[in-house]
Amino acid sequence: MAKQQENMGMDSVLKEKRIFKASVQFSKKSHVPSMVAYDKMYKAAEKSPDKFWGDIAKNFFWFKTWKKVVNWKNPDAQWFIGAQTNICYNALDVHVGTWRANKAAIIFEGEHGDQAVYTYSQLHREVCKFANVLKRRGIEKGDRVAIYMGMSPQLMIALLACARVGAVHSVVFGGFSSTALADRINDAKAKAVICSDGVSRRGNVIDLKKVVDDALVNCPSVLNVIVFQRSNNAVSMVEGRDHWWHELAALASVDCPAEKMSSEDPLFILYTSGSTGKPKGIMHTTGGYMVYAGYSHKHVFDIKDEDVYWCTADVGWITGHTYVTYGPLLNGATQVIYEGAVNYPDWGRIWDIIERHKVTILYTAPTAIRSFIRAGDEWVNKHNLSTLRLLGTVGEPINPEAWIWYYNVVGKKKCPIVDTWWQTETGGIMISPLPGATPMKPGSATKPLPGISVSIVKKDGSPCKANEGGFLVITKPWPSMLRDVYGDRDRFVKTYWSDIPGAYFTGDGARRDKEGYVWIMGRVDDVVNISGHRLGTSEIESALVSHEAVAEAAIASRPDEIKGNSLVAFVTLKSGYHGDSDLKHELQNHVVKEIGSIARPDEIRFAEALPKTRSGKIMRRLLREIANGNMNVSGDTSTLEDFSALEKLRVHDDE
Ligand code: PRX
Repeated sequence: MAKQQENMGMDSVLKEKRIFKASVQFSKKSHVPSMVAYDKMYKAAEKSPDKFWGDIAKNFFWFKTWKKVVNWKNPDAQWFIGAQTNICYNALDVHVGTWRANKAAIIFEGEHGDQAVYTYSQLHREVCKFANVLKRRGIEKGDRVAIYMGMSPQLMIALLACARVGAVHSVVFGGFSSTALADRINDAKAKAVICSDGVSRRGNVIDLKKVVDDALVNCPSVLNVIVFQRSNNAVSMVEGRDHWWHELAALASVDCPAEKMSSEDPLFILYTSGSTGKPKGIMHTTGGYMVYAGYSHKHVFDIKDEDVYWCTADVGWITGHTYVTYGPLLNGATQVIYEGAVNYPDWGRIWDIIERHKVTILYTAPTAIRSFIRAGDEWVNKHNLSTLRLLGTVGEPINPEAWIWYYNVVGKKKCPIVDTWWQTETGGIMISPLPGATPMKPGSATKPLPGISVSIVKKDGSPCKANEGGFLVITKPWPSMLRDVYGDRDRFVKTYWSDIPGAYFTGDGARRDKEGYVWIMGRVDDVVNISGHRLGTSEIESALVSHEAVAEAAIASRPDEIKGNSLVAFVTLKSGYHGDSDLKHELQNHVVKEIGSIARPDEIRFAEALPKTRSGKIMRRLLREIANGNMNVSGDTSTLEDFSALEKLRVHDDE
């Protein structure tokens, strides 16, 4: 297995023996209170999946019920066949008809400290108004709408309004560049863009509308841009194309019936990186995604009406789709939404928000946890965090020492931690403790949720032995599985359904211990995980090669104490160019311009040649070893074309 990353803390993961359990009081009150209850649920789902998922789906509102729970012919699945529903109706209308009408759905805090609360009925009104705005702008069922905004209630309103009218949303994270935004808009042929004028980030206003304007020079499909005024930065409005959100919403009615959607109608597209080519548009549909978002959010976060839940993810990523926008609202929860950086103006901001809003459940990324460890315990200890009862992590492996710090210093040894493994493609959490039931082992995502069948296998699909590393696959269909790569069925089949016979291939390596606990070992393809964000090495390489000075580029990653991994770019230059520090900066900035700051290489190394096999393939394994400072490159180098290329790369020539 060509293992992409040796994730930090992997050695200690292999030695990890500690086990932690929720308190008896926690377990007693939780939705799944014991391993006996978990096993019972798991077996019931295994024995008759149709009954298991059908019973869960009955907790949702359907305009029309299903004829059959699932149709499965690898790789195609349809869930809740013949049924009609609307996820926005389930997220809002069902609560507005109950005592939850005046319950807080969103407690918003801006980076400057401004606050707003939206009850379920207020949120419902705003969503209905904006849904009518979309209709007036000619948006119809099935149309794609791109969304490019900072974290705000309006971002959620935009998604929910699309869902209400049956439009397919495609959210692009506000940190992506105009080129990346244009690529995504064009791939989906979006008819409209919803954006904000700007967003606050560490005290600066990022001019989002300007990025949209730059992108739209090359996007002929976009007829309307709706701009939410958030930061009051100067923007230019294109006559006939651009409209202010508040002006259109002021004219819109609060009455907007939810569109009846077939269970398999597309709900959203979300672009994510793969090992080859451009990012792929992962497509999710309505009924199955809704059922799984609600089910997984309820059980993994043990959500109750009295909870104040806070997931720090941006809605631009899948975590912000399933566990900010849809999951919490489907469960009628109260949640905190925060606009800015969690360490601005200082390292106490996150703890201050938890204290002031009395947060009970915190869900964040290992990268953030590691940076808080470095900042020092005093920032945490200044605050009263006694309301916290459950902690969660997502997006990358958590090293046991960071887990223990989170458990001791933040959770004061009383909060279970749910280490949740999943992907953009899975739509929802697949492997995680159920906090009242599963004994936790730091660094392990533990066991699959009831209804989810995972296996660790060799290349031929045969199962690995206990503790043997292999490929992580999912062997049975689940409701929120991706249905397609938008517009590229071949890529869908090839990427996920061709490598391992009969199963969905995750792209991750893993092992399972004797007690059935899954330990994720990281990506086995050319995807890297930087601060919990997923990037394809080939995307960054193409960005580098698009610079006039670059002949060839190859990206390798190496472990980073805070970010999990950092990026090293090996670059060969065209003749006439000199590899100096100015050019290094220029290339770093070029990648930021092409993709966004998350893809900025941490280091650029100029080389005369890249190590290649005789058939011309770049030997990435060798580059990885060199990036990791390994001078004695191991393994088979017999196919290497020019050994001197390797010798030169080993010497880190700073200039
Ligand atoms: O490698 C795994 C890692 O993140 C990848 C999925 O990235 P993305 O689609 O951006 O979704 C991130 C948020 C769900 C996976 O293939 N990953 C995610 N969660 C974990 C993880 N690795 C280890 N432990 C996790 N809990």
